[in-house]
Amino acid sequence: MPPVLESTAAPQETLYTDVISGLQETPPTIPSKYLYDSRGALLFSRICELEEYYPTRTELALTRAHAPEIAERLGAQTIVTELGTGDGRKTRILLRHLQQPATYIPVDISATQLQQSARALRREFPQLQVLPLCVDYTDCWTVPCESIEGRRVFYFPGSTIGNFKPRAARRFLTRLSAMAGPDGALVIGVDLKKEPAVLQAAYNDRHGVTAAFNLNLLRRLNRECRANFDPDCFRHRAVYQPELGRIEMRLVSTCSQQVQFPTHQFHFTKGEFIVTEHSYKFQVQDFARLSEVAHWRTRSIWIDEQQHFSLWYLTTITPHDE
Ligand code: AVJ
Repeated sequence: MPPVLESTAAPQETLYTDVISGLQETPPTIPSKYLYDSRGALLFSRICELEEYYPTRTELALTRAHAPEIAERLGAQTIVTELGTGDGRKTRILLRHLQQPATYIPVDISATQLQQSARALRREFPQLQVLPLCVDYTDCWTVPCESIEGRRVFYFPGSTIGNFKPRAARRFLTRLSAMAGPDGALVIGVDLKKEPAVLQAAYNDRHGVTAAFNLNLLRRLNRECRANFDPDCFRHRAVYQPELGRIEMRLVSTCSQQVQFPTHQFHFTKGEFIVTEHSYKFQVQDFARLSEVAHWRTRSIWIDEQQHFSLWYLTTITPHDE
């Protein structure tokens, strides 16, 4: 039977109002979370298989190599809350090593994805308590685990923290630390700064999968907001902005055009673009500082040989520590 804490209600999506207000910004911007409708999630999983897209395989290898140590550091009787479900490969490695008893709370905006992954995980890990939670974790939310005894652990792989602007990242991590409480822990994947050519290639793959992923957003807006974007009149482009330490993913208008929504219309000149995602890259020192101001203490950092990606184990800073 599905446990009590399971929430299957779709979170309140404010797609339409978010998109209209985002398109009125300079430059026009759409929150990156909207890239992940079901086709978007599928295209993203294909990105993860690409030669050029180093983050997934690098983090996977780091997780494989260090999961036993991570699990040991986490101890038994944990409540592991994962932000976003992804394809679950890294999660399975961690869960396989986790000491029992343990509770696993996958958090995702997509109820369908949650249900599917929860069902599979319950089958694979029969002793694990799996309590899916359907919320938008970038919004205000809480983990309904007050009644469960255990160490509160957040698992945030994929360098999704890089999709937040610096101030939002700090606020978000601070909130996690408050939710984790004393003796809480965070296991997080953080993508590192590297040669711009490697970054550019990772976000402009030659098979055009990232382009399809980005352009899929326009199809979603046509369907769900009754807009009339012509996806052939926009092209994908991702640029690395070294002064900001981030990849900016864009949809560039290839001509002068009007786009109609039921309540608004937008004009794009040739070359004008919509920003669809920021993906910040960090130096180890940058993230150490960021997590510290957000009340996390760095305990271990694992980095691959090429220094492309990092996996962190942090614990909450309690007043006692200071
Ligand atoms: C996993 C969401 C962090 O920013 O690298 C991949 C998303 N966008 N290719 C990233 C993404 C384009 C990815 N995140």
